[in-house]
Amino acid sequence: MITCDAESEGVAIEELRAIDAALLPGQWLDTGDAVQGSILLVETPLDFEDFSGRFDGLNSIFIRHLMPVDFEVALTGTEADFAAICALLPQLAQLLNSSMSFSVQSRILGTGKLPYRKVVLNETLSQALEQSTGAAMDCRVPEQVISIICTPTVAYVGVSETYQNRSAWPGGKHRFKREDDQVSRAEFKLLEAMNVFGVELPTSGKALDIGASPGGWSRLLAERGLQVDAVDPGDLDVRLKGNKRITHLRKRIQDYNPGPKYFTAIVNDMKMDARDSVEIMLRFAEKLSPGGIAVITLKLPIMGPSIAAAKKTLEMVRSDLDRLATGFEIIGARQLYHNRSEVTVVMTSLS
Ligand SMILES: C[S@@+](CC[C@H](N)C(=O)[O-])C[C@H]1O[C@@H](n2cnc3c(N)ncnc32)[C@H](O)[C@@H]1O
Repeated sequence: MITCDAESEGVAIEELRAIDAALLPGQWLDTGDAVQGSILLVETPLDFEDFSGRFDGLNSIFIRHLMPVDFEVALTGTEADFAAICALLPQLAQLLNSSMSFSVQSRILGTGKLPYRKVVLNETLSQALEQSTGAAMDCRVPEQVISIICTPTVAYVGVSETYQNRSAWPGGKHRFKREDDQVSRAEFKLLEAMNVFGVELPTSGKALDIGASPGGWSRLLAERGLQVDAVDPGDLDVRLKGNKRITHLRKRIQDYNPGPKYFTAIVNDMKMDARDSVEIMLRFAEKLSPGGIAVITLKLPIMGPSIAAAKKTLEMVRSDLDRLATGFEIIGARQLYHNRSEVTVVMTSLS
């Protein structure tokens, strides 16, 4: 079962075809809302470990979550469904590795009132499995996951190691707690990128924030201890006015000259055609200190449902990545849960 952004079904299918030529895509499930993303059941002759391994590196940008389907349970939309899923407990216990921590992650699809809630399903199954296997439950950083997707008529259930799922969150729906001094929703994009690619923002030196307004990314960088050049013709949030670590340069990046400065972080969230934004980023590649972190969001065109449009978008993103690779080492590129019509690329300096 694969999950991608609701607007990226076409590009996801193109990626799947390139990853596994023998793959048979089934129907997109009716998720009931765009927040869940789009979910597709696919059939492959590969075992899940092999299949999931093929998504590593830059092979997949648009698929944010995978889960195996080990069991399918018929559902009726009544109280009896809960018991039908719980009847799988002995088989699930056999698939769990008792020396590794685990979490149960349910997604309930479709609209309308359901006779059970996912929290209750997660808790009931987790407690029973903890007792029967001795494996420790860990909802935050589980080593293995029992994934459940309930449609009105079927529950799909699978057990896998967390790294095989591409995200430790159900469907890749990465959640962060909103902080009181948070300036923009964009902050979550930067936090999610660091988390998904297992990198940390630097904690010393200077940062360049290209397209900084209203200042969410600048705030996060300053909070880490960096001295930030925030370049944007637009305003920064008033709460950042007195921040001594942030210098707002009210201009277009094309008119900015860093002088002799080097940066431990260069981030670029500019609202701009991706190809132009990439060329601007490359102008600063030599200004990134060795081992520094660079981040860019590539804004995507409106794709629509056609295969031709999906192919073109994928080609454009791949060519943007090839260009970026001339100035940076790419750590990863992904359409993250907090990305809307864009892809986040995380990079470091060329060695
Ligand atoms: C999505 S917002 C950035 C949000 C920011 N990352 C945050 O965390 O608050 C995109 C910004 O790109 C800026 N921008 C677009 N073209 C620009 C250019 N040529 N130079 C500098 N900034 C630009 C826009 O003014 C806009 O404020």
